Amino acid sequence: MKPSEQPVPFLDLKQQHQALKPALLAVFEQALDNAAFVGGPQLAGFETEFAAYCGVAHCAGVSNGTDALRLALQGLGLGPGFLAITVPNTFIATTEAVSLAGGRFAFVDIDPATSLMDMDLLEAELARRFAAADASLRPRVVIPVHLYGQCPDMDALNRLAATYELLVLEDAAQAQGASVNDRRAGGLGHAAAFSFYAGKNLGGLGEAGAVTSDDAGVIERVKMLREHGQKEKYIHRLEGSNARLDAIQAGFLRVKLTHLEDWNRKRRAIAQAYDQAFAACGWIRPVVLRPGGVPSRHLYVIHVTRRDALAEHLKALNIHTGLHYPLPLHLQECYAHLGLGPGSFPRAERAAEELLSLPLFPEMTEEQIRRVIDGVLSFEVGA
Ligand SMILES: Cc1ncc(COP(=O)(O)O)c(C=O)c1O
Repeated sequence: MKPSEQPVPFLDLKQQHQALKPALLAVFEQALDNAAFVGGPQLAGFETEFAAYCGVAHCAGVSNGTDALRLALQGLGLGPGFLAITVPNTFIATTEAVSLAGGRFAFVDIDPATSLMDMDLLEAELARRFAAADASLRPRVVIPVHLYGQCPDMDALNRLAATYELLVLEDAAQAQGASVNDRRAGGLGHAAAFSFYAGKNLGGLGEAGAVTSDDAGVIERVKMLREHGQKEKYIHRLEGSNARLDAIQAGFLRVKLTHLEDWNRKRRAIAQAYDQAFAACGWIRPVVLRPGGVPSRHLYVIHVTRRDALAEHLKALNIHTGLHYPLPLHLQECYAHLGLGPGSFPRAERAAEELLSLPLFPEMTEEQIRRVIDGVLSFEVGA
């Protein structure tokens, strides 16, 4: 097959792992030799190195990103019935974690340009809720989602959090290495939750996650909660669960962490090439980057009116695309009981109809990048 006929995958994990094979196999062999499968030096090493990378004091490795969110909420001391505010255009893990931690959630709409939490809308929502006599309407925590690898206006959010005495938990699942004014995701709130699902910028060979925080108490609680609430064996101070990070995954992540900066740089260069190529086309609206931020470019997302037709057009050219995410959370069947019908969050709803994620991974070739650009530009808008 000529390169021009081969599929352009949405994501190609094989190449990355081929290149790292000797180092990853060494981790595996060491685990077999030591039979150290849980905890131990690999876990401690990863926690130290990832905390340093994020510029925070503490890190706890956990089983996946959903558990990281749940354990972070519990580690922050939030108990049954707490209310969290987040956005409706996120992966469902964000709200699942709130429910799993015994909380409730409410949404605010997004800034249509960046697809991130709109801080003016948040301010209005907080003013309304804190003016109400009903104390159950008052949130205890805000969960900003660093969607596609970009952080929202964290200065504005932290100011509001200080005013209303709210906790801030970053959903940083997509933002390993992203920063705002030279401060990395993971250290921009009271705690942060990361996913290292295989397709993330930093991904394990399976499931993995982490919680970061400058608060030693939060991380101490998370470390207990991930291991049945125990500090000493069979002495359970809290009721927890099993949410440990395998030592072998921690070892794989340590290998990959040394490449993350390089991979993120490559992602940003590809995204910039897309931005430049689409700049003159009024019908293509790439997600706008906020000033002062360096995104991790986990996903490259454009908005177009005839999204499904463009996706079909690219598919016919053997170019694979994705949708992140096609249905906002408030319109999901599992949340029908919330009674939030169409029109509740019009910006998130419109974004869901118009968004399209284009292929983006560090190993993309010039030829693949060119094919994506040419493929998009060859779409007849009015056809
Ligand atoms: C925004 C967001 N939050 C949370 C998660 C949950 O992470 P995991 O799949 O590791 O449980 C993901 C991962 O898909 C995500 O993208």
